[in-house]
Amino acid sequence: MKKIVVLSGAGVSAESGIKTFRDSGGLWEGHDVMDVASPEGWAKDRELVLNFYNERRKNALSASPNKGHQIIAELENQFKVTVITQNVDNLHEKAGSSNVIHLHGELFKSRSTVDPNLIYDMDGWELNIGDKCEKGSQLRPHIVWFGEMVPMMEVAVEETLSADIFIVIGTSLQVYPAAGLLEYVKESNPKFIIDPNMPEVFPRPNLFLIEEVGSAGMKKVREIILKEYV
Ligand code: APR
Repeated sequence: MKKIVVLSGAGVSAESGIKTFRDSGGLWEGHDVMDVASPEGWAKDRELVLNFYNERRKNALSASPNKGHQIIAELENQFKVTVITQNVDNLHEKAGSSNVIHLHGELFKSRSTVDPNLIYDMDGWELNIGDKCEKGSQLRPHIVWFGEMVPMMEVAVEETLSADIFIVIGTSLQVYPAAGLLEYVKESNPKFIIDPNMPEVFPRPNLFLIEEVGSAGMKKVREIILKEYV
């Protein structure tokens, strides 16, 4: 079985009603990203950060996967598929993808502020001041904030190195190290980029640019790969 690696960003969830980051003019739901998604923001105002992610969680709970997520999940019938997502929502999992790497963390998990190995599943949407880990410290969202390490990056690079087919969907490719993954795909292997507003990428062999929204783009890519690469 050939192996497909998908790198997804906020755009794959746009058709599910979750807003992308950079389409909203530098503000994220009305906030400066550094106030709500950085260690400095957390040090300054924990309540603001917790409330911000509580809202994102509420939003994500009511969202459903769209055709783009679904086609990616269905590709598991013909291929070995790894999804590397920058998204913190769980729509790839809801669509049925079984191997999802979250580079930037997960909305529905919380983490201890004294021991990063203490990570907890969350049932509902709420995380508040006073919610503590088993060692007695405040819980924070399990999100990789600006300026923090990306612990899953090494695994993501390994997966990308062994990809026969690489699909990039719905990311502006502006945030590193995620954006650099494309560099690890073998030159001779096909790479597809799906985006209605194509990000600038260096031309390279076997690169196919599909200027479409996620669902229509994934339909096209599925057609091509089923015809040419199974
Ligand atoms: N289908 C596919 N792509 C779309 C759609 C759609 N319906 N609508 C918009 N897009 C594209 C945009 O054209 C853009 O290129 O999705 C991309 C979204 O880019 P960003 O908002 O920059 O999101 P992303 O690349 O995921 O951001 C990376 O930045 O703030 C951080 O940690 C956050 O994970 C995030 C990271």
